[in-house]
Amino acid sequence: MSQVIYLNGKYIDRDNAKISIMDRGFLFGDGVYELIPVYKSKPFLVNKHLQRLRSSLELVGMSTDFGVIEDLEEIMFELISKNNYVNHFFYVHITRGCQPSRNHVYPKNIKHTVLVMGEEYKVFSKEKLENGFKGCVREDFRWMKSNIKSISLLGNVMLKNYAAQNGFYETLLIRNKKLTEGSASNIFVVKNGQVITPNLGVELLPGVTRDLLIELFRKNNIDVQETDVTEDDLLSSEEVWCTSSTNYCVPITEIDNKKIGDGMVGDYSYRSYDLITKFISAL
Ligand code: PDD
Repeated sequence: MSQVIYLNGKYIDRDNAKISIMDRGFLFGDGVYELIPVYKSKPFLVNKHLQRLRSSLELVGMSTDFGVIEDLEEIMFELISKNNYVNHFFYVHITRGCQPSRNHVYPKNIKHTVLVMGEEYKVFSKEKLENGFKGCVREDFRWMKSNIKSISLLGNVMLKNYAAQNGFYETLLIRNKKLTEGSASNIFVVKNGQVITPNLGVELLPGVTRDLLIELFRKNNIDVQETDVTEDDLLSSEEVWCTSSTNYCVPITEIDNKKIGDGMVGDYSYRSYDLITKFISAL
């Protein structure tokens, strides 16, 4: 069944949505995005997602005062109502806009293209998580602006597909012998009983789920250190899990076919999953 989406000021049927081939998003991957879950018909942690969207726009030199960001929450509520969304997520995609001819240089007074559409939400069940997931490690060859939620995702896509083609769930990325993040997730590790996660910076996305989990751990008197995590720490750790808006917390019990800890899903992985799901069900 078709759905109503928002495109450049209009609510239209998704099947009728059209974007110009002269859009810089299409030609250059010139744009940013957000993925915002909807639980019980309400956008989740919307202020945090909008704050990150603003930051992404600023970091790529796009305008933040084009009047849509302020309205995004209202647009999402309108789409929730038009489509009867209960548990979905929104994909918000803003490109720099269209130009008359292909030119790397930004044209003046360009009007951003704004797309908001819902997608069905298929989160892993707790039963599925109990078996653990397999991960692999690859060199992080992406650019040094991975803190921007850019629509130019070819590096991430190639790294995720390496995992998919080789029977792994996620590719864990290493730069200069240090863990950065996953191809589509942030990573937490337990090493010598201490929960650690890589420091924020240009090498990784400041994940909203990462942030939420750190806050929930600290509220529950579990110490989390944001610090360098070396490849050796990762491979000799007791537990590893990935976090993202689409899958909360996914335990990685094997990396490149070697067990992590005893190869079973550990206590902190379960606690992460429980803390996040409890927080969501209390909304
Ligand atoms: N991606 N790092 C990368 C590279 C990601 O793509 C994602 C999520 C995260 C986790 O961020 P958050 O907790 O805010 O979802 C970290 C989304 C789900 C996507 O691109 O579809």
